[in-house]
Amino acid sequence: MSEDIKLIDVYIMGKHYKVPEGLTIMTALEYCGYRLVRGVGCRAGFCGACATVYNFKNDPQLRFDLACQKTVEQDMYLAQIPFFPAAKAIYDIEKLEPVGATVLSIYPLMEKCFGCNTCTKACPQELEVMWYMSDALRGDIPEVMNKSFDCVMCGLCAARCPQGLVPYNYALLCRRLYGRYLAPRSKHLDDRIKEIEAGKYNAEIDKLKKADKNELQRLYQSRDIEAAY
Ligand code: FES
Repeated sequence: MSEDIKLIDVYIMGKHYKVPEGLTIMTALEYCGYRLVRGVGCRAGFCGACATVYNFKNDPQLRFDLACQKTVEQDMYLAQIPFFPAAKAIYDIEKLEPVGATVLSIYPLMEKCFGCNTCTKACPQELEVMWYMSDALRGDIPEVMNKSFDCVMCGLCAARCPQGLVPYNYALLCRRLYGRYLAPRSKHLDDRIKEIEAGKYNAEIDKLKKADKNELQRLYQSRDIEAAY
């Protein structure tokens, strides 16, 4: 290894390792020989599979992050939470009304929230979890959707809730209710679906299905891309 690379001390499940500075927690785990078959997914901060709890030597305060996003720091004590046993209700979205009473009837324990804000502190996405819980209790489904939109379902809010609540599943239900019943309809989408159903794109799709890999790559690389501004 180049002498320019600084090694720092971390502790994974209590075991001491030296890892290069600048690695994410996830790449540091792999650097130390851990083969990740749980607790890893997109590696890009979207899927929420890599919830991690850590603190520091001589600093017991627990911190929370996504292993694929957070870089290692000197004297980190790390533990992965690849799965947290959180309650998830089964429901048929087609049979629900988009109102607060629906959310409460499916998740009655939600009322036990006493506003300690631990969920907000645990959220690696820095979402206002406690506030969307309060919006959910008031039946403000659009606001729950807004505040929880960037939730990656990592489960850390549920892991930390002293009442055993599962905020991320309540928010998921609200987002589903919003998407199914409350979101404004997109006329463009309706028009495009009608075009597809009328067969407008069949010839083009057939052509793509018959194209070989090189042709598909050429088409992909020469596609129109919207300017990023
Ligand atoms: S691996 Fe998907 S959020 Fe980290």
